[in-house]
Amino acid sequence: MEGKITQTKANPSELGGELTLRPQYLSEYCGQSATKKNLSIYIEAARMRGEPLDHVLFYGPPGLGKTTLAGVIANELGVDIKITSGPAIGRAGDLAAILTNLNDNDVLFIDEIHRLNRSVEEVLYSAIEDFALDIIIGKGPAARSLRIDIAKFTLIGATTRAGSLSEPLRDRFGIVEKFEFYNTEEIKDILRRTSHVLDVTIDPDSLEEIAKRSRGTPRIGNRLVKRVRDFSSVIADGNIGIDITEKALQALGVDELGLEKLDRDILETIITAFNGGPVGVETIAASIGEERVTIEDANEPYLIQAGLLYRTQKGRMASKLAYEHLDLQHLYKEPDNEQIRMDL
Ligand SMILES: Nc1ncnc2c1ncn2[C@@H]1O[C@H](COP(=O)(O)OP(=O)(O)O)[C@@H](O)[C@H]1O
Ligand SMILES: [Mg+2]
Repeated sequence: MEGKITQTKANPSELGGELTLRPQYLSEYCGQSATKKNLSIYIEAARMRGEPLDHVLFYGPPGLGKTTLAGVIANELGVDIKITSGPAIGRAGDLAAILTNLNDNDVLFIDEIHRLNRSVEEVLYSAIEDFALDIIIGKGPAARSLRIDIAKFTLIGATTRAGSLSEPLRDRFGIVEKFEFYNTEEIKDILRRTSHVLDVTIDPDSLEEIAKRSRGTPRIGNRLVKRVRDFSSVIADGNIGIDITEKALQALGVDELGLEKLDRDILETIITAFNGGPVGVETIAASIGEERVTIEDANEPYLIQAGLLYRTQKGRMASKLAYEHLDLQHLYKEPDNEQIRMDL
């Protein structure tokens, strides 16, 4: 994954940079307007009552601003945020330690919340429902259960897979918001802000070109701006003009739709090795030597959104557009009626 431009996970080396690129307030946070509008009302109401905000679940593909928005919410509420993730909380005791250190109205952000293990999840239930922890003291017949109160906090959970969340957990969130890919204008707004923060000038054509190739994903857009700036620093004056932009994007292997090699490999394999599909995602993963979760979480959502890929009950299929995009239209056959577009 290292070094891939369109990779949607944050690199550790980027986290420092992302902190300064992350908007702090709702007014600086572009796009996701339906979500933002709802949240601004809930935040205002919670603030007026002096109560914690109801628990929030964010879901959607990586890089769309879930972590950022959690930070914005805490800022707008004027409370502290503690950030952790599902895989990082190994045992129930780890969660108990985090929970007992929270203050009233604080935000606890749990990223990849679908990856919490069962025993931790059970502790979380009473914590978010009753703001209490049930602790077992002693062993055997002498064991007794002790309930201790914890601060009235807000849990914000984020996941790329709402479907992998257990139902009892999902039901305990009062606010559930889905993140959508951004349109080109919204990405342009975000990248304009990025260029201010990075103190680099981008001409309008370059801004448009980079935005169009960002797959509707701010993390990818920000990364492209940084890489194009690198090219410019080395072969020009550090500012971003269209000549540099085109050269850089080509060198980076990012095509007009924002696809990179892995995306094209996925489509090409479906077309050339499996007759356009339907073919199972496990088989695709094996034949291109990539992990299934990477394909499902990072590549597929955008390929589907761009109309290049269909998810059918029998597997994945390449669309006519995919054949055209890869210049393989001579291989295209109209699929059987029953095969197509049974979107799950
Ligand atoms: N709506 C937005 N406005 C401005 N920048 C954004 C927005 N959404 C995301 N970003 C930027 O994109 C990057 C990735 O966002 P992040 O919150 O980490 O995504 P996620 O948690 O959904 O994977 C951050 O550096 C952030 O600066
Ligand atoms: Mg995140």
